[in-house]
Amino acid sequence: MSQQFAPRPLVIAPSILAADFAKLGDEVRAVDAAGADWIHLDVMDGHFVPNISYGPDVIKAMRPHTKKIFDAHLMISPCDPYLEAFAKAGCDHITVHAEAGPHLHRSLQAIRALGKKAGVSLNPGTPASAIEYVIDLIDLVLVMSVNPGFGGQAFIKSALGKVSDVRAMAAGRPIDIEVDGGVAPDVAGRLVAAGANALVAGSAVFKGGTMEAYKANISAIRNAAALARGEAI
Ligand code: DX5
Ligand code: ZN
Repeated sequence: MSQQFAPRPLVIAPSILAADFAKLGDEVRAVDAAGADWIHLDVMDGHFVPNISYGPDVIKAMRPHTKKIFDAHLMISPCDPYLEAFAKAGCDHITVHAEAGPHLHRSLQAIRALGKKAGVSLNPGTPASAIEYVIDLIDLVLVMSVNPGFGGQAFIKSALGKVSDVRAMAAGRPIDIEVDGGVAPDVAGRLVAAGANALVAGSAVFKGGTMEAYKANISAIRNAAALARGEAI
């Protein structure tokens, strides 16, 4: 089904993974000023994914630099022992992977008990049906369009079909559908047409290295997506 008039607001979420880690506060302020809606925070443990990024203390240090939503993407296993630390660090959304452990339902309950929005992320090889029995505990679904662990990878096209499947499953519920990995203006329109409303972008936002460049990069993604939603640019 076409989602030209998707009811959830359009969101562009720059991924801090592509920022200059030597000046994280400045980078957060720059993407905020450049028009980011959410700040996407990729947490990697070197176990669930083959890379290590940063944890709750670094997120806590970024928190005073913006009032925008902190959208945490936990690529860690186990996740349950760390949920409270991410909540206390100032994360507004806490997304865990469906593949990260045997107790997804328990993890989502725990996130909600902390007063945060609960998200589930699906690796490229995981079907949308993995969330069918936890759908009532979900505020956000993060469809991976690369294998998680690194920025700058090529978009995997099968994510488009999965977004449609998730949109159908979410019907009538206030669930954000977010896509992460290789997102650039060229795929933004097709993603929102399939039913996504939140687009994560790392390299496509941070290329250029200045606030002016970030602004142009965010606008290019937003305009391509808005056009596909039939919204004014
Ligand atoms: C990958 C991360 C992504 C990554 C996206 O594991 O979840 O958020 O930063 O980077 P790009 O947009 O460069 O693919
Ligand atoms: Zn991510």
